[in-house]
Amino acid sequence: MKAVLDHVGIAVKDLPAALAFYRDALGLIVEAPEEVVSQRVRAHFIPVGESSLELLEATAPDSPIAKYIEKRGPGLHHITLRVDDINAALAQLRARGARLIDEKPRPGAEGALVAFIHPASAHGVLVELKQLAAHRSPAPSPQSPVPSPTTPPVFQPAAHRATSTAVRSSRGSQSRPSASIR
Ligand code: CO
Repeated sequence: MKAVLDHVGIAVKDLPAALAFYRDALGLIVEAPEEVVSQRVRAHFIPVGESSLELLEATAPDSPIAKYIEKRGPGLHHITLRVDDINAALAQLRARGARLIDEKPRPGAEGALVAFIHPASAHGVLVELKQLAAHRSPAPSPQSPVPSPTTPPVFQPAAHRATSTAVRSSRGSQSRPSASIR
């Protein structure tokens, strides 16, 4: 299968401190956060060339990220490989005996489909597969703001990376839950 490094996930315990490093010290652009309800995390993407860093904050005590940080502290959490056909990728892995965490894809950030491969099969690395959404679904998750006709194009996934420099704050999103990003 063809795979592209989409992003590297970093579990973050103290978001303001993480922003002080990635945004202020490194000078990188942090995009408006996105709540991933299924994983009980808030994701903050930081474009770095063809790939991104993904700062992950837990939104509930039983979040996988909260548990991860409890056990191992903050740090590298997963790598994400983007594939064209996530179902085909999972079938191929299954046929070759790889241990999967997700037998079927589930909803991820930005309307994508994602599935995790167990670190036991990936030599200690949690690997996420991701298939991009074809286009923004008209019915976003309940905790996301419903895009209005006046929603700036920077918040639409198709424009996600190309226009990221325009997204310096979460100001354009009326009901986004995070106030952490100025
Ligand atoms: Co991720």
